[in-house]
Amino acid sequence: MIEAPELITDYDPRYHHWPACVHAEQITSGIFKLISDKADELLTDLTNRDRLKLSGQVFDQIPLQSLRNTVVGGLILEQSTRTRTSFSVAAARLGATPLIDLVRMEDTSFGKGESWISAIKNLRQYHMDAFVLRTAVKEFAYQAAALFGDYTGEHHFGHNKRWSAFINAGNGFDQHPTQALLDMYAISRTFGTINGLRFIFAGDISRARTVNSLLIALAQVAKDTQVTIVAPKIDRIVLDPPPPVIQKLDETGLSYEILTVADRDEFVDLVKQADVGYWTRLQVERYKGELPNDFGIKNAEIVGLDDSLLQATGIKAFHPLPYREEVSGEIEDDPQAMFFKQAGWGVPVRMALLHYCITEPELLCSTYAKDTKMITN
Ligand code: NCD
Repeated sequence: MIEAPELITDYDPRYHHWPACVHAEQITSGIFKLISDKADELLTDLTNRDRLKLSGQVFDQIPLQSLRNTVVGGLILEQSTRTRTSFSVAAARLGATPLIDLVRMEDTSFGKGESWISAIKNLRQYHMDAFVLRTAVKEFAYQAAALFGDYTGEHHFGHNKRWSAFINAGNGFDQHPTQALLDMYAISRTFGTINGLRFIFAGDISRARTVNSLLIALAQVAKDTQVTIVAPKIDRIVLDPPPPVIQKLDETGLSYEILTVADRDEFVDLVKQADVGYWTRLQVERYKGELPNDFGIKNAEIVGLDDSLLQATGIKAFHPLPYREEVSGEIEDDPQAMFFKQAGWGVPVRMALLHYCITEPELLCSTYAKDTKMITN
C-alpha cells in the first residue's frame, strides 16, 4: 500500500479532490451550478419553514434531512463567528450532528507537543462523515485534506474510498473556498446572474483569503467579467495581490486590472464604473507589525465604504465580514449593503456543499473532471 506523502504543503490536484473542498481551483462552472441550484432549493425549504413557523403551523415535514445519522466534525483553530456557526446550522438543518469545536491551538494536544500529522491520523479514525478545519497555518489544511482522503493510497478522481469528506474553512492568508461559493451565490442571487458583471475589490487585496478564493473562482466560473483590483498606496507602501492569484487570473484570461490608488476621488470614479463592490478588512493578524498602526485608517480614508459612496455610485456592496474601519456602521441597514444577506446565504450554500460531499461525492468528482477537461481542451 502506497501512502500519500505526508508533507503536502500546497494545493495539488493529485492529492486534493472532491469531496475534499480545499482550494477555489476546485470551483468550476459545473460545481458552482450544482451547489447553487441545490442551495436555491434548500433556501426555499428554509424560507417556507420560517413562514409556517411564524403562522403557527406544523413545519417538521419539510424534507431537510438528507444527512440524518451523520456527523460533521471539525476544529476551528482561529477566530470565527460566521463560518463555524453557519456550518453547524447547515449540518443540523440536514439532520447531521455538528461537532465543530472552536478551540485555541494551545488548548488542544498540540499544546502538549503533539504533531499536526499524528493528530489528524488519529482524528480520521473517528468515523466522521465530514471534517471542517480552520487553521492559521496554510500547510495544515493541505496536509489534513490529503490525510483524510488517503484510504488506500490510490489517488485519482472518482476514487470512492476515503476517511471522510474534508472542508477547508480558511487556512491562514491562503484560501477560503466555501466563502467564495457563498459570495458567488450571493452575487448571482442579487443580480440574477454571475456573468457580465463589473467588479471592484478594495480593502485588503493582499492577504485576504476571501479575495484570493473569490478571484480564482470568478476567473473559472464567470463569463464577460471585468475586475478592478484597487491597490492602495499609502506612505509609499503598496499592497498587491499575491503572485499565485495573479498567475491564475492570467491563465484563465479574466479581464482584470490592478490600479494603484492614493486618492479618494480617484477611487469614487472607479466605483462608479462597477456593479459589484467587494470590500475586506485589513487582515492585521497576517502582517505581524509590518504595517504602520494607522495604515487601516488611512486605507479607509481612500477606499472606505460609507453612505456618500453608496449614494454617489449605486454600488451593491459585499463583504465577508467582520468589518473594521473600512466600513462606516451607519450603512449596515442600507439596501445596497448586502453583507448580512450575503452571510445568511452561507447556510443554504454550506448545506448544499455538505449534502453533496457526504451523500453524492462521486457527482462532485465527475462534474469537476468533466469541467476541467473542458478547460484544458
Ligand atoms: C473572513 C475570514 O475568516 O477570512 N471571515 C469569514 O469567514 N466570513 C474574513 C475576515 O476575517 O476578514
